[in-house]
Formats: sequence, structure tokens, C-alpha cells
Amino acid sequence: MASSSSAPAKRLSQVVSHMASPSTSGSADVFHSTPYAPPDAIFALTAGYQQDKFDKKVNLGVGAYRDNEGKPFVLPVVRKAKQILASDDSIDHEYLPIAGLPSFVSATSKLIFGADSRAIKEDRVVTIQTISGTGANHYGGAFLQRFYEPWLGKSKEEKKIYVSNPTWANHKAIFNSVGLTPVDYPYYDSSTIGLALSSFLDFLRTAPAQSVILLHACAHNPTGVDPTRDEWKEIAKIFKEKGHFAFFDCAYQGFASGDLDNDAWAVRHFVSESIPLLVCQSYAKNAGLYGERIGALNIVASHAGDVEGGAARIKSQLLILQRQEISNPPTFGARIVSLILNDEKLFAEWKEDIETMAHRIIAMRERLHALLVDKYKTPAPGPNGWDHVVKQIGMFTFTGLNPTQCKAMVEKGHIYMTANGRISMAGINDKNVEWVAECIDKAIRGQL
Ligand SMILES: Cc1ncc(COP(=O)(O)O)c(C=O)c1O
Repeated sequence: MASSSSAPAKRLSQVVSHMASPSTSGSADVFHSTPYAPPDAIFALTAGYQQDKFDKKVNLGVGAYRDNEGKPFVLPVVRKAKQILASDDSIDHEYLPIAGLPSFVSATSKLIFGADSRAIKEDRVVTIQTISGTGANHYGGAFLQRFYEPWLGKSKEEKKIYVSNPTWANHKAIFNSVGLTPVDYPYYDSSTIGLALSSFLDFLRTAPAQSVILLHACAHNPTGVDPTRDEWKEIAKIFKEKGHFAFFDCAYQGFASGDLDNDAWAVRHFVSESIPLLVCQSYAKNAGLYGERIGALNIVASHAGDVEGGAARIKSQLLILQRQEISNPPTFGARIVSLILNDEKLFAEWKEDIETMAHRIIAMRERLHALLVDKYKTPAPGPNGWDHVVKQIGMFTFTGLNPTQCKAMVEKGHIYMTANGRISMAGINDKNVEWVAECIDKAIRGQL
């Protein structure tokens, strides 16, 4: 009888608390039906890590670079640029132009397309400063939603943006929020822990002409699996034949190989093939400016100037988007990046800093690989041994661990990683690599 007597009591207490809430909160309950949204998986992982008291705990969830001491890394060139800014009395705190800091805007497009890019020389590139890569993705989607010719008059369901399966967790949320429908395309083959090239190419061939397809320019997140140059050429060929639109997301230029030009190769190849495209840029990872929120959106137009399809018309609409969303972009990150991109000496120093980060990650891939293969002789999750650990590119490795093994890594090994098996190589260093390898070995053997 306990449950029947407690049910009315519970109901009564609900009624009392409901009646009491306006007076205790001081306002009417006008958000009563607001559902509780799930917390962001990556940020929740970090919160778990911070609360963990275990001395060997490791955070391999978050996609931010750490130095060999496991500390956030302020690039030496960024320190220098900050000092230059701090001692420059001519800098004021006025609003920037709506498109952003002009010296940043012109330099950022040259960084991605190359200073000798035909599209830039022909005045066909439209660039605006954005709130990092997230803002660029958001505007890219919002602009296409309004103006992509093949979509005019179509419903949200028909405005499909194809994204790799898997992709950066935020892509789908961003595109949904601007009235597009994200749809997966095959990209990753879990049986080989590599690129599902033939399914990807088949998809490109069979997708409706002029489809909008998101491509990670380099260092694919979350898999670390990038096409080779020859594979990119095959991909580009089909884009051209089918008239597909390439929505490039480039959040890791320089971070993948340590070389800025090398990491821009796919984008530049698509431009040289006259494939319609846009590129989102972020300086979060390659300049360590995570919190400054500095990035750019570049759209390559078919024509320069104020003609149909012309760059000037596209720019006028991007300015409207920016104005209504953030009015004008923030100054600090733009000034730092502008200094670095426009000063030969600082630019050379930046390249060295990028190499330092990229090469530390590559060295950790080699250490982890050697430990798993030589020391632990750990059975591999795929047919090619542990080669994927060294072959994958950029910040992330898709380990091939299954969700049960990932859970054991977190709960028993205190190694914080996402359930899809992704680890951030940037979180591995000389001090913790042995522990990470030991736990992977035990997790794979079911002994963790
Ligand atoms: C593929 C990809 N795109 C975009 C972003 C956006 O990053 P941010 O907005 O910090 O520049 C990220 C960050 O992790 C990413 O991995």
C-alpha cells in the first residue's frame, strides 16, 4: 500500500511546488515546457576528467593541442604578436567593418587559396571574418540556404547537405539550425579503419547533380582519415562531371602535415578545376587561438563584380548575414592573425610553431604504435595491424576500439575518450603514452 499512499502525496507536493514557484522565483513560469537538453558530449567528458582524482588520468576527448607537459600551448609567435599589439598606441577599440579587419580578410584568403590563386587575381573570392570555424560553417550553410540556385523554391527537406559518416559532431546541428537537412554519405570503413573510397565515389556518382557536399579539407575529424592526392583527384573529377558544390571545412590547415600549403592542396586543386565551392577557415588549432574565435568564410564566385553570380553581389548578402547576427566581428584575434600573416618574419616563425605542434603529434603516433606493436603485441582491431595509428592525419586517431572497450578506458583506465573510439593525439605526451598504451592493450584483451 506504500506506493498508492505515496502517489497522492507526490502529486500534492508537485502541486504545492508548482503553486509556490512563481512566488519563489519572482516571475510567472513562462518556460514551463522547456525540455532539458543533453549536455555536449565532449564538454561533459572534460568535466568528468576534471573531477577525477586519479593521478594517471588522461584527457583524450577534447580537440585542443597540449604540449609535452599536457599544458595548453600559447604559440611563441602569438606571444610576440600580443606584445606588439600591447605596445601599439595607435590601436583603438572602434567597431571593425562588417566584413572584418581588412588586412586579415585579404591575407586569410591568400593563405588558403595561395597568393598566386587565379580566383583571387580575378577578384572572384569573397571573404568575411567569422566567429572561428563554427561561425564560418554557420554562414556557409545560411548563405546556401538562401541563395544556392538549385535550391530556390525548395523545402528544408529538399535542401540536403551531404556530410561524411562520421563527421564533426556540430556539423549536423549547425546545418539543421539554418534550415538545411544534413544527410550522411559513406566515408569511413570500420573494417579497414580507413577510407571507404569506392562507396564514397559511388555515392558521388549517384547523388543528384549539383548536390552540396561537405568535405574536410585536411585532418578529417573525427577519423583522421584523409584521401590521398590521387584519391582527391578522382573525387574532384566526379564533382566536376556532376556539378556538385564543394563545402570545404578547413579547421586544421598546417596542423595535418605541418605544412600550410600541403594541407591546402585539395582546396586548391578543386579551385583549379573550377568546381563551385566555399571554404570555412579556423585559426583555433593552427594558431592556438581557440578562445579568440577567429576564422573566415570564403566563397569563390563564377564572376567578379556586380553581375549575375558576381562576387560583389555575394559579398553584399554576406554583409547582411553578418550584420543581423553579430553586427561586426571581434578585433583581437583578427589583429593577431593579421600581424602574423602579413609580416614575413612572424609568418616564418608561425610556420615553425605549427611544425612543432604537428611533429609532436606525429612523434606520439609513432611512440604509441611502437608500444602497441613491439612492447605489448596487442591484437589489432583491423586487418592492417596498428598502422592506422601512424597513417591517420592530424589531431585525432580513430583507434578502432569498440564502445565497451572505450567505456573501460574511461571507467577503469581514467582515460577520457569518446565512445566512438576517437582519441585526441594532442593529449598524449612522453609521460602518459605508456599508460595509454597499457590501457588500450588491456581494453582490447578484455582485461581492463
Ligand atoms: C571539422 C571542424 N570544423 C570546425 C570546427 C570549428 O572549430 P572552431 O569554431 O573552434 O574554429 C572544428 C573544431 O573542432 C572542427 O573539428
